[in-house]
Amino acid sequence: MFTDTTIGFIGSGNMAEAMIKGILRKGLVAPEFIFAADPREERLAYLQEKYGIRTSTSNREVARAADVLVLSIKPQVLPKVMKGINLDVRADALVLSIIAGARLKVLVKGLRHAAVVRAMPNTPGQFGEGMTVWTNTPHVTERQKNQAQAIIQALGKEIWVEDEGYLDMATALSGTGPAYVFLFIEALIDAGVHMGFSRHIAEEMVIQTIKGSVKVVEELGRHPATLRNMVTSPGGTSAAALYELEKGGFRTILSKAVFAAYRRSVELGDASEAAIED
Ligand SMILES: NC(=O)c1ccc[n+]([C@@H]2O[C@H](COP(=O)([O-])OP(=O)(O)OC[C@H]3O[C@@H](n4cnc5c(N)ncnc54)[C@H](OP(=O)(O)O)[C@@H]3O)[C@@H](O)[C@H]2O)c1
Repeated sequence: MFTDTTIGFIGSGNMAEAMIKGILRKGLVAPEFIFAADPREERLAYLQEKYGIRTSTSNREVARAADVLVLSIKPQVLPKVMKGINLDVRADALVLSIIAGARLKVLVKGLRHAAVVRAMPNTPGQFGEGMTVWTNTPHVTERQKNQAQAIIQALGKEIWVEDEGYLDMATALSGTGPAYVFLFIEALIDAGVHMGFSRHIAEEMVIQTIKGSVKVVEELGRHPATLRNMVTSPGGTSAAALYELEKGGFRTILSKAVFAAYRRSVELGDASEAAIED
């Protein structure tokens, strides 16, 4: 599927590195078939040294070489970057964008290129435990779709959706999801320290408790409310703690936070459409 296929990256930051790691771990292509562009020489030197890949400070050079061109830059620089490379993207190439809020319409117009995949991955992808939701334009061939899926699977689990609208929702739930979980972990550790545990002991306790709880949900396959009821004895400690969480609006706050991320993703999408009209 990937014989003689060059996978290019425009923007070689955190997410690009996570993808490069996953692609190499799965052996989809040899390191010399990965070609990464970034403005920072030190960043490229690090990636070259660590993964043995090819690098360049020229987006155009990478765009010209790529069979699959991954766009892994921040949304703010997308219009400028597209203008810079739209004459260089090969007619038979597949463009795979992971940029939050960048709609297929914008990518197709900005790059003057029809075969585009839009994906929303998350950072656990660097350890093969990611969650990616993705979709594509009708011009993506079956082979390109399989290639995109294999690259995305190198990051972990994936869900293909027909309706692009789900991408903004995925951005809010799984794309941004690790940020909520990290805050939850941090807050629990702080609570442990507040009671008197040393920080490293509290960290170990919290991380293992979260890992174990995820395992219970996965293995038992029961509704979380049922599992919560199972650990809530009458007049017990869980009941006392859950009462305070509900009183503080825990689930409403969480829901509002996810919705705020969703609105922001839609706003970024609107802004990228407006920028392309200019
Ligand atoms: N982080 C996440 O959890 C996550 C999850 C899903 C999707 N995404 C999406 O993934 C994309 C990348 O995010 P990230 O976290 O990897 O960001 P990042 O670490 O900042 O990576 C972006 C890279 O692009 C480089 N860059 C800046 N201007 C450029 C240009 N004109 N041409 C080429 N490269 C340029 C940056 O260099 P400098 O540092 O020198 O500016 C940086 O190395 C974003 O669009 C984001 O929406 C991120």
